[in-house]
Amino acid sequence: MHPMLNTAVKAARRAGNLIHRMSDRIDHLTVTKKSHADFVSEVDRAAEQEIIQILLEAYPDHAILAEESGTQGESDYVWIIDPLDGTTNFLHGFPQFAVSIALQHNGIITQGVVYDPVRNELFTATRGRGAFLNDKRIRVTKRAKLADSLIGTGFPYTKFEHMDAYMGIFKDLMQKTSGLRRPGSAALDLAWTAAGRFDGFYETGLHVWDIAAGTLLITEAGGMVSDFEGTDTYLRDCHICAGNPDIHPLLLDVIKPHLTPGLKASKA
Ligand code: IPD
Ligand code: CA
Ligand code: CA
Repeated sequence: MHPMLNTAVKAARRAGNLIHRMSDRIDHLTVTKKSHADFVSEVDRAAEQEIIQILLEAYPDHAILAEESGTQGESDYVWIIDPLDGTTNFLHGFPQFAVSIALQHNGIITQGVVYDPVRNELFTATRGRGAFLNDKRIRVTKRAKLADSLIGTGFPYTKFEHMDAYMGIFKDLMQKTSGLRRPGSAALDLAWTAAGRFDGFYETGLHVWDIAAGTLLITEAGGMVSDFEGTDTYLRDCHICAGNPDIHPLLLDVIKPHLTPGLKASKA
């Protein structure tokens, strides 16, 4: 395993164990509301600090971009961290959440880890070396027809500016696929697409920490990732469409008629 990935795995497991330990104490946690329907708990913060400490101990010169504490340092190497993706699920005892850690080097994601502490499933990828689930190679599905596909998504729930477009896409896909699912952790949704549990995934208005690791898992598992126009601005705008090489373009065809200016790629 690449030494930088190894460090990320150590940090993700440590944070995952903390989250798992705290999951039977959810009624006693201090929870703060960041904005409408957007919560942060002491577990998110403690997990993030644990991760940052492990990463900076190994790589003191690297920079950090973390959901709860923001940015730290300046470097060609930036660790992008979501300490607990799926906080709402976690706070309700709904067992679908994960730790997500990615390393970006000169703008390119080179390492990615998504760790599900409930199932003890560790998804890892190093750029150019494939994607793995607990040391077993994973690949996207081979399903080629939208009608046979199972698609993951995330509903808008904090900001509603893309609601109408989202509902239009949702309505079309409801009639054109085998099924749609909204599990509630974008990082895990992407990891599950990489592992062949979904044939595709789409969501609007995410953040870079939700998708940095998961998108590397998908490309390393032989899948495709883009923004809603099919180009590669997804880490900037965070409207994301992913899937196996057959389903990805079919999802884009469904999305196309619903594109609004806000869902198109912004200028850099
Ligand atoms: C959220 C989850 C969710 C997605 C949201 C994200 P958080 O992350 O990934 O599935 O729909 O857009 O913000 O806030 O639980 O880390
Ligand atoms: Ca998140
Ligand atoms: Ca989070």
